[in-house]
This record gives sequence, structure tokens and C-alpha cells, in this order.
Amino acid sequence: MSEAGSHITPRSLAGKTALVTGASRGLGLAIAEALVERDVRVAMLARAGDSDPGEATNKTGKLAEEAARLGERASAIQADVADPDSVRSAFAEAAKLFDGRLDILVINAGVAELARVEDLADHELTAQLDTNLLGAMYCCREAVPLLRAAKGGQVVMISSTTVNDPYPWMTVYAATKAALENYAVSLRRELAEQGTRVTVLRCGPAWTNFNASWDPERAQVAYQEWEAGGYPGWAGAMDPAIVGLTVARTLELPEQACAELLEIDPTAAAPTEPASRT
Ligand SMILES: NC(=O)c1ccc[n+]([C@@H]2O[C@H](COP(=O)([O-])OP(=O)(O)OC[C@H]3O[C@@H](n4cnc5c(N)ncnc54)[C@H](OP(=O)(O)O)[C@@H]3O)[C@@H](O)[C@H]2O)c1
Repeated sequence: MSEAGSHITPRSLAGKTALVTGASRGLGLAIAEALVERDVRVAMLARAGDSDPGEATNKTGKLAEEAARLGERASAIQADVADPDSVRSAFAEAAKLFDGRLDILVINAGVAELARVEDLADHELTAQLDTNLLGAMYCCREAVPLLRAAKGGQVVMISSTTVNDPYPWMTVYAATKAALENYAVSLRRELAEQGTRVTVLRCGPAWTNFNASWDPERAQVAYQEWEAGGYPGWAGAMDPAIVGLTVARTLELPEQACAELLEIDPTAAAPTEPASRT
């Protein structure tokens, strides 16, 4: 083995094509931004995106606005990952946009409901399974031939550190992420022959609107219980751009290696308030 070092350089992503789910705000938007900065053509997928999930706003606004802000390399594709027909149409649109190939798929769209098991409404339970798990599966199913056409490509799945240490109040969410990680392992094995690399990125807390729709009273009780139980909670959280940078750097790894499982957590230096929430 020769000395480790400078003969290994990051792979250029310039000219590659990517589809990022849940890209109208939060981590997905930060990932799309990091890719556009590296001259990647990015299809940004979301249902449409309220400007603020708490407000009734123009439903087509946020996603289109953000894609326009990122410039000509970014395109908005309006779709619901929980609906297989919507996913089929979205990938057909992406295939047209990218001449039938896809180099990068980022499975990021996700939702979490905060409730005790006995209090979860049917729609709260199914929304998490349909978006976080089935949504990922619908997207991967459509992406496989496009990745193959790109001579391999890469898939990044955004998971959560709740998988390590499943929280009370987020039982279904943590279960969907654990199942997603399991799916990622068999997907990696299944697609190894076509040269597709699959990475799981387990994220700790980041400042996004992820918890904006949580009922404040429930949240207060949950936070107290998490603190008492020693769960990480939300004392400090990362800037979403850090997650964008992590994904981009991972995609820049040369083809001879696959980062199979990464974890990123806030340190004591992480901000205790968001700079701004996108
Ligand atoms: N923030 C954190 O602390 C944290 C920590 C660990 C893991 N994560 C994971 O990171 C991912 C992104 O979360 P975030 O914090 O960025 O949340 P966020 O700010 O709420 O953003 C979620 C994104 O997903 C989209 N989305 C939700 N449901 C969708 C659906 N059915 N179809 C298409 N798009 C959908 C949303 O747009 P529309 O509503 O317009 O569809 C939005 O663009 C999630 O998978 C989450 O589990 C987050």
C-alpha cells in the first residue's frame, strides 16, 4: 500500500444530474443549494411548499420561488412522494429534463408527528409511513433505470439519529427511519452490479421547520420528558447548510469507495437559535 495522500482528489460533480425530494425548504433545500453550487443540474421535488407550514399561503409558491432563486440549473417538480402515480409522473418529467439519466438521487422528504402511541390519529400514523418509507420506495423504484443509464449513480437517504436512540413520542417516525436504513442496505446490494452507491446519512437536530406543526402543548411535555430521559432534544441544532455540505462532500468521494453509513450531530458550538429557518 502506498502512502495515503494527495493523489486522491474529490470527484467533480459538474454536469451531473440530481433529484432531491423535499427540496422546497429545510435540509432538502440546503442539499439542492450545495449541489447547484457544484454545477449540478437539480430537479427539486416537493408537494409545492407553503412559505411557512403554519400559514395558509400560495401553495405553488415556495418550491417554484426557491428553484428560481437557485438559477437555471434548478428545476421545480411538484409531486407528492406518498402517491405512486405522482412519483411516476415526477420521474418521467425528470427523465425528460435529464435525457433519461440520473446521477444522484437524494431521498430527503420526511415528516414526523409528535404523539404518544395511543394518541396518534390514523392520518398521523399513515402520513409518516407513506412519506418517509413508501415514498422513498416509490422514488427508488422509478430511479433505478435512470441511475443505470447514468452508469451507476448515487443514492443518499436522509435518516435520523432517533434510530440509535428511539425517543418516546416519536415512535412511528423512528421506526420509519430504521426501516428506511434497512431498505438502503438491500438496495445497495441489489444495485451493486450496476455500480450504484447507496449512502445513509443519519442526521441529528438541524434548524428547519420540521417541528413547526407540532402542537406546542404536546411539544412542551415531550421536551421535558426527553430532557429528563437524557435524550438529545433540541438544545443546539445544526445549520441546514452543514447537512448540504456533508451530502455534497459524500457525493464527491471517488468511485472506489462508498460511504455506507454516516452520522452527523450538533456539537456544543451549534447554535441554540436558528439563524433563519428556510
Ligand atoms: N431537521 C431535523 O432536525 C432532522 C433531523 C434528522 C433527520 N431529518 C430528516 O430530514 C429530512 C428533511 O427534514 P427537514 O428538517 O428539512 O423538514 P422540513 O423543513 O419540514 O422539510 C420537509 C420537506 O419535505 C417536503 N415534503 C414533505 N412531505 C412531502 C411529500 N409527501 N411529498 C413531497 N415532498 C414532501 C416538504 O415540502 P412540501 O410540504 O411542500 O411537500 C419540504 O420540502 C426528513 O426526512 C427528516 O426526517 C431532519
